[in-house]
Amino acid sequence: MAERVIPLVDQRLVALRAVLPARPVPATGLVADARGRPLRDLRISVTDRCNFRCSYCMPKEVFDKNYQYLPHASLLSFEEITRVARQFLAHGVRKIRLTGGEPLLRKNIEILVSQLAGLRTVEGTPPELTLTTNGSLLARKARSLKEAGLQRVTVSLDGLDDAVFRRMNDVDFPVAEVLEGIAAAREAGLGPIKVNMVVKRGTNEHEILPMARHFRGTGIVLRFIEYMDVGATNGWRMDEVMPSAEVRARLAAEFPLAQLEASAPGETAERWGYADGAGEVGFISSVTQAFCGDCNRARLSTEGKVYLCLFAGNGYDLRSLLRGGATDEELASAIGHIWQGRDDHYSELRGTMAADTGSGGRRVEMSYIGG
Ligand code: GTP
Ligand code: 5AD
Ligand code: SF4
Ligand code: SF4
Repeated sequence: MAERVIPLVDQRLVALRAVLPARPVPATGLVADARGRPLRDLRISVTDRCNFRCSYCMPKEVFDKNYQYLPHASLLSFEEITRVARQFLAHGVRKIRLTGGEPLLRKNIEILVSQLAGLRTVEGTPPELTLTTNGSLLARKARSLKEAGLQRVTVSLDGLDDAVFRRMNDVDFPVAEVLEGIAAAREAGLGPIKVNMVVKRGTNEHEILPMARHFRGTGIVLRFIEYMDVGATNGWRMDEVMPSAEVRARLAAEFPLAQLEASAPGETAERWGYADGAGEVGFISSVTQAFCGDCNRARLSTEGKVYLCLFAGNGYDLRSLLRGGATDEELASAIGHIWQGRDDHYSELRGTMAADTGSGGRRVEMSYIGG
C-alpha cells in the first residue's frame, strides 16, 4: 500500500482572526483582492460529514469511526449562514453554492435554501443558487429543494460501471440510485444539471467514453476534473492525474469537439461542444492549466471560517465576530478586509517552494470546505 502521511496538526483547529479594520471597508459591491480579482462566488459548506468515502477525498483509513467530526454547537446555524451570505452579496457575490461533505445530510437544508433564495445581489436580483451533491439523497429531496428555491444541482459521478462506482465511493453504493437522483433533479427542474467526474488514472479512465456516450444529447453537462492534491490525506501522486488534454483526445477520437467561449469570467471549466450538436462537455484542469488568474471564489466552512483558496491551510474565523455581537456593517467590513488582503494563487505555484508558504505545507480537507 502507498505510504500515507497523516498530518500532526488538525487544520480545522487553526484559525486566523478576522479583524475589524481601523479604516472600515464598506460593502460597495466592488471589493477587489491584492491581485485585482473581484468577489463573485461564495461556496458554503454545511456539513463536514459524508455517506461516501471516495478515496481521493475521505479515505476510509482516516475518516473511520474514530474520526472527530465537528460538534453540532460549532456549526453555523442557518440564520448565521444567511447573515454572513448577505454581507458577501453586498460585496459583489452573485453565485452561492452549497457544498459539504454531502450537503443533503444537513438536517432541514431546505430551510437554509429558502432563506438564501430570499437574499439579493447588489444589482437587486436573486443570487444564482446551486448545490453540489453526490446524488445519493437526491431522488428523495429534489422536489423539496426546488420548491425551497434551489435553481440547479451539480452531481459528482465518477463512472457508470456499477463495480467501479461502488469501489470509488468505497461504501458499496449502487450507481443506479445516483442515476435515479439525477432523473429526479431533472424532473424537478433543477437544471441545467452538471455532472462532475474526477478522472484518476488507473482507476476510472475507462469510464470516460461510457460517461460521454451516456450524457451527450441529454442536456446534462459532463465535466472531467483533474485529480487534485487537495488536503493531506489522499496520498496524491502526479502519475494518477490524467491531464485534460489526454481526456479530450480520447473523446475527440470518437466525437469531434470544438472549443466554446467561457460563459462567465473566472470559470473553472473550459467548455467544448460536440460538433454534431449533442451538447457540451467541460474540462477542469487545475493541475495542468491553473485558472487562478481570475479566481473569484470564497469559501465559508461549516463552522464559519473564510477560506480564500481551496489549497489554503487556514481560514479566517468569522464565527467569533458573529457570536461576539458584531453589527452587519462590522461583519461586512471584516469580510472586505479579508478579501482585500487575498493573494492566493496556489495552482500557479504548485510544485514550487512558494506553494505552501503561510500554511507550512498543511492544507485543509476538501470534505471540510467543499469543492
Ligand atoms: P458551475 O457554476 O456549475 O460551472 O460551477 P463551478 O465549476 O464553479 O463549480 P463546481 O463546484 O462544480 O466545481 C467543479 C470542481 O472544480 C470542484 O469540484 C473542484 O474539484 C474544482 N474547483 C472548483 N473551484 C475551484 C477552485 O477555485 N480552484 C481549484 N483549483 N479547483 C476548483
Ligand atoms: N481532486 C479533484 N476533485 C475532487 N473532489 C473532491 N476531491 C477531489 C480531488 N482530490 C470533487 C468531487 C466533487 C466535488 C465536491 O469535489 O468529485 O465533484
Ligand atoms: Fe463525499 Fe463528495 Fe468527498 Fe466523495 S467527493 S467523499 S461524495 S464529499
Ligand atoms: Fe482559486 Fe486557489 Fe483554486 Fe487558484 S488554486 S483557482 S486561487 S481556489
